[in-house]
Amino acid sequence: MSPGRGVRYPGDMSVEQGLITAQHYRYIAERAQREDSFLEALRRDALAAGIPAISIGPIQAAFIQILLRTAGAKEVVEVGTLAGYSAIAMARALPDDGRVRTIDIEPKHARFAEDKVAASDVPGKVEVHVGAGVDVLKTFDDDSADAAFIDADKGGYPAYLEECVRIVRKGGLIMVDNAFGFGQILYDAPTDPEVAAVRAFNDALGEDERVDGMIVPFGDGMWVGALR
Ligand SMILES: C[S@@+](CC[C@H](N)C(=O)[O-])C[C@H]1O[C@@H](n2cnc3c(N)ncnc32)[C@H](O)[C@@H]1O
Repeated sequence: MSPGRGVRYPGDMSVEQGLITAQHYRYIAERAQREDSFLEALRRDALAAGIPAISIGPIQAAFIQILLRTAGAKEVVEVGTLAGYSAIAMARALPDDGRVRTIDIEPKHARFAEDKVAASDVPGKVEVHVGAGVDVLKTFDDDSADAAFIDADKGGYPAYLEECVRIVRKGGLIMVDNAFGFGQILYDAPTDPEVAAVRAFNDALGEDERVDGMIVPFGDGMWVGALR
């Protein structure tokens, strides 16, 4: 185990004084970049098309954009396109010659996302791939991305991480969504069938020497890590 991993921080005010509350999140949201009308409409249209409302939220999108910009990312790989919300948001944070390669197993989601990308302000910057995440990732070259965002079936996360560690360059960014297991991570008896997979993944990633990462409490909890 690397130094510091698993250490408790008794001097951390936010933990000791219970400072992080729903009110603090509202306070953050009120000061975060607003969702624009295009993404707002995308969310509505997706729901109307029968696509579930499980995309990242605007605060998380704004946070990911800051991470990508500060990392100077140009190439991003995503597993889990859904309606294209996060892919479009990420593409906006990349330079003009940047690209998001995003993968979804559901052809309906991929088609919807492709239409939205075409109508967006980043039409040439998102490539939608249809297929099982791990199969498509295997076709991507080593060190061909600066960042990865994993946001699909939780049972697949260990395999996606393995592929992304290969695809993302050293020092690149690894982001993984739903670390709080749909809010049920601390439940004694979670009802969601994917929580066990999230728990096992979190425990493994917390000990993974290849990634310096931590769970950031936005949305449903997101791992943010840098590849060593
Ligand atoms: C939570 S949604 C992604 C949300 C999207 N990242 C966003 O924030 O806008 C998860 C997506 O993963 C897709 N998915 C599920 N299993 C998959 C697999 N084995 N390979 C690729 N995609 C998969 C689903 O079809 C769904 O569209």
